[in-house]
Amino acid sequence: MRIGVLTGGGDAPGLNAAIRAVARRAFQLGHQVSGVKNGWAGALAGDMIDLEPRDVRGILPLGGTILGTSRTNPLKEPDGVPRVVRCLQRFGVDGLVAIGGDDTLSVAARLHEVPYPVVGVPKTIDNDLAGTEFCIGFDTAVGIVVEALDRLHTTASAHHRVMVVEVMGRDTGWVAMAGGLAGGADLVLIPEFEVSLEEVVRHLHRRRGEGKDFSIIVVAEGVHLPGLDLGDGGPADAFGHVQLARRGVGDALSRYIEQETGFETRVTVLGHLQRGGSPSALDRIWATRLGVAAVDLLVGGETGVAPVRRDGGVCVVPLSDLVAGQRRVPRELYELARVFG
Ligand code: F6P
Repeated sequence: MRIGVLTGGGDAPGLNAAIRAVARRAFQLGHQVSGVKNGWAGALAGDMIDLEPRDVRGILPLGGTILGTSRTNPLKEPDGVPRVVRCLQRFGVDGLVAIGGDDTLSVAARLHEVPYPVVGVPKTIDNDLAGTEFCIGFDTAVGIVVEALDRLHTTASAHHRVMVVEVMGRDTGWVAMAGGLAGGADLVLIPEFEVSLEEVVRHLHRRRGEGKDFSIIVVAEGVHLPGLDLGDGGPADAFGHVQLARRGVGDALSRYIEQETGFETRVTVLGHLQRGGSPSALDRIWATRLGVAAVDLLVGGETGVAPVRRDGGVCVVPLSDLVAGQRRVPRELYELARVFG
């Protein structure tokens, strides 16, 4: 069998570990592997390469993806899905492992309906896929936020400042919440739970009143803070997403705080630092487990499914479940963070 492997959407640390796992398991079972370049863009254009064992050697610790990625959406192209299938078949690819978040996997789910054999692997630093408790890349991103918060603590404390730290996560607050909890933020603002600007100001005054003369606020890029004047995020991409970072919530919030409280305030926007560089051990391990499991499923004749982490083990869910809605931060975690305000 010839197995195709593709990485789509925003890159995430651990993609290369997943590609390696797919390829190594396929080779071990006596199959061939094709790499699709640049996500669905390469699948539409027939941009594919044969992967040999030497191509996946030494890539386990590398960030990015050796295959490249894109936010191309075949569902927006005339005849997009049949074109993808025709290209894959022309290159002799019998089945595909699609490594991606909700956008990439929603296209994979459509391929399955054609029908074309496809198995997904969940990755996104946002960690927001329904049906799984973990997406490849999330752990590394959180680690980067935590390291940043540790560093910002010392400078915030030295200058008695308020530090506003804007993190990624799109419409959910997983990166902000996990990063804020592990990095000791005293306020975490996420899209799931609305907080007023007055509450933010009250929080800062209360801390000063208690003798705490600095503050660390983690704000998710997609948070709603009624009354704050934000940018519009620019034009939407092929999956309908605007660039939330362009709303500039961290910058707007820090200006507001300084103006309302008089406390010296600085903003740090962590941006793509959260997606770059070497994956954590946890991301490598899960990329490996899920990549191998994906090949086993495909070779075993399963399609339209994805291996995911559930209760600490690997279980298999339909792709349609994985992309049905978003996994949101539960109130329990939000309340936990408030203990440390
Ligand atoms: O989905 C991953 C993610 O990093 C989001 O957290 C962020 O909003 C978005 O991608 C940024 O996308 P881009 O790299 O295209 O600007």
